[in-house]
Amino acid sequence: MLDADTSLPHSTTGGQPTSASATLSDRAPEQRRRLVTEIPGPRSRELAGRKSGAVASGVGTMLPVYVERAGGGILVDVDGNHLVDLGSGIAVTNVGNAAPAVVDGVREQVERFTHTCFMITPYEGYVAVCEALNRLTPGDHEKRSALFNSGAEAVENAVKIARHATGREAVVVFDHAYHGRTNLTMAMTAKSMPYKSGFGPFAGEIYRAPMSYPFRDATAGLDADGAAAAARAIATIESQVGAANTACVVIEPIQGEGGFVVPAPGFLPALAQWCTEHGVLFVADEIQTGFARTGDLFACEHEGVVPDLITTAKGIAGGLPLAAVTGRAEVMDAVHTGGLGGTYGGNPVACAAALGAIATVEEHDLAGAARGIGDVALPLLRDLAAECPAIGDVRGRGAMLAIEVVQPGTTLPDPKEAARISAACHRQGVVTLTCGTWGNVLRLLPPLVIGHDVLRDGLSVLAGAVRAGAPS
Ligand SMILES: Cc1ncc(COP(=O)(O)O)c(C=O)c1O
Repeated sequence: MLDADTSLPHSTTGGQPTSASATLSDRAPEQRRRLVTEIPGPRSRELAGRKSGAVASGVGTMLPVYVERAGGGILVDVDGNHLVDLGSGIAVTNVGNAAPAVVDGVREQVERFTHTCFMITPYEGYVAVCEALNRLTPGDHEKRSALFNSGAEAVENAVKIARHATGREAVVVFDHAYHGRTNLTMAMTAKSMPYKSGFGPFAGEIYRAPMSYPFRDATAGLDADGAAAAARAIATIESQVGAANTACVVIEPIQGEGGFVVPAPGFLPALAQWCTEHGVLFVADEIQTGFARTGDLFACEHEGVVPDLITTAKGIAGGLPLAAVTGRAEVMDAVHTGGLGGTYGGNPVACAAALGAIATVEEHDLAGAARGIGDVALPLLRDLAAECPAIGDVRGRGAMLAIEVVQPGTTLPDPKEAARISAACHRQGVVTLTCGTWGNVLRLLPPLVIGHDVLRDGLSVLAGAVRAGAPS
């Protein structure tokens, strides 16, 4: 038996404050990393064999351990290994897997009815989720929401709404942006491989502006200040698109897949201000940053930015597929009746899950929990960076944290080293993800209900993996 026991005391709450421990169900797995086979184990390998014969190879799996159960900060695979979850299924299970309020809501709803189509015969859950979004998203103006199935679909609809409301066509996005994999959102996403390569032609009227990327702006000799970066972006938009042609600027307040790029302070407010002055709608894509992930309910709040439209998905429903566009009532209501919708958008079971997830985020102060995760992790990551020259930058906010891996002594991206570190973590039962335009960023997105001892254990494995690559 390969027992990776870290000699932590057994604890079902993982050392979490009492309020957050109430987010674990009685059936949650033991909150402790424990390996009983190599990773992936024999049953996972058998399933991976079946996958290759049945699932299109374009659908990849980063870590082929097949999950049997999950909760809190732990995933249990079909071989009985307990892995530390530092990915949350890409920022989805903010409230933890199988969170009690989500399970209860889903169970109750699924027994009553599973689908009617809100556009045909509506139901209360859809309205209640829209009310919650209108109440919780930044700004106290009157708002409306519409529900969809995936993040990409929400972004597509935000663009539809913005074009309809402004009568303009151009959409501005940023370097390193990720907005999805549908045809329009592929055009909005920056990175070619694997997201866009070979899938064109893409939708038109999408324009790209430079992002504020403090680490790389500074090393490229640019003024890394937020106002200066905003001025560069605005100059690009004005010269290459024209404010009068621009329906909306779509931006992730902290970029996700593009490398957890946190813009310099002042960048987002300056951009939002320019949008207001020119009748351009400011669309915050909070699909990855939303629902307490960054220590605020929404990342825009950090700098008091109030978007005209906001897209949400992922953390909204504790793992069930749901997405939304929320925005100023006059903008949202500019679209003719019947212009927005879809068969499954706002499915009643997903809405019940969302109401459970939102209640959990609010009642258990998961924004505070995200800040607590940052307080534990950031100092450890910064100490590690001081020791290991392969870490060029440590960044992030709350429970959305990353290290950028570079060739020591330079700022050249080192995707191979990032992949090596991540694979070493996986072998020891810690689920880490990479991201970034150059694939050299290792990102941490733990469930917000992870116990601090489980988190520390995961981080110590990560630190060991980074150190193992350092020249002796
Ligand atoms: C910021 C952002 N926008 C949009 C999307 C697309 O969401 P989905 O995968 O649900 O279509 C993602 C997914 O990672 C995202 O991070």
